[in-house]
Amino acid sequence: FSESSLRPQYLSQYIGQAKVKQELEIYIKAAKYRSESLDHVLLYGPPGLGKTTMAIVIANEMGVQVKTTSGPAIERPGDLVALLNELEPGDVLFIDEIHRLPRVAEEMLYSAMEDFYVDIMVGQGPTAHPVHFALPPFTLVGATTRAGMLSAPLRDRFGIISHMEYYDTDDLKEIVLRSATIFKTEMMEDGAYEIARRSRGTPRIANRLLKRVRDFAQVQSNGIVNRELADRALLMLQVDHEGLDYVDQKILKTMIELYQGGPVGLSTLAVNISEETETVEDMYEPYLIQKGFIKRTPRGRLATRLAYDHLGYPYIETD
Ligand code: ADE
Repeated sequence: FSESSLRPQYLSQYIGQAKVKQELEIYIKAAKYRSESLDHVLLYGPPGLGKTTMAIVIANEMGVQVKTTSGPAIERPGDLVALLNELEPGDVLFIDEIHRLPRVAEEMLYSAMEDFYVDIMVGQGPTAHPVHFALPPFTLVGATTRAGMLSAPLRDRFGIISHMEYYDTDDLKEIVLRSATIFKTEMMEDGAYEIARRSRGTPRIANRLLKRVRDFAQVQSNGIVNRELADRALLMLQVDHEGLDYVDQKILKTMIELYQGGPVGLSTLAVNISEETETVEDMYEPYLIQKGFIKRTPRGRLATRLAYDHLGYPYIETD
């Protein structure tokens, strides 16, 4: 089974993100009713919450094709023109990590999004001149980890801005049960709940853990996943009872052991645990903050009492 076989294809199959789905359903219906292309959509939120999946779902619901690329993959404006040139009327162009689009490509998107044309510079030196290139109406779906990372001119050209949130345990449990059915894995309710609870609100993590727990069940047991087996497998995978993985734990331990709980700067922290600053900021910190293990302060990050208690360090009151 590939990653893509787990992806829901239509809104009715998409579990969770109720608010985003509810809004998109209305805008999609209205656009179809008027036989127009859907307005441009910006999806923002932490990695692994289903932004790419949602772009595919939007295209399926609209009955159009989707072309996929990412900010870093577009190096020159020509790369973007080549993609735009392939679009059929109404198609979806999905740009993942759109905040990493080169400046010149971003500026080219302004007219493409607003009036469906691009001006391409032809020739060099004194004979250089722009050539007007008309595009079919299309829908740009952009994905970014934080909307604040987008320039205002680009952000303002999205008519629909949707914030993807961490999933609650009940929704993740439904996703685990659905994926287990696709994997033909015998999954008990309490097993699915245990995996869901420890997946940091993220379907990508839930599905990854499900695959490993399923291996464990087949080799070390009778193939049936219940709570007890999920717990044993997850502890072996170094996913603790709060769902913190090895890196989460290392971040908190580093803050406590090396920096007396902080405040410590994010990049200093990242160097200490050999991760990219951006990875810590996008993938790890938001969940640790949401769970109350880390606090952001103007002077840096602080480990909270909860972090000390969770990891079993004595907490010494400062101030
Ligand atoms: N698989 C991964 N994410 C999903 C979601 N949000 N709904 C259904 N299945 C999924």
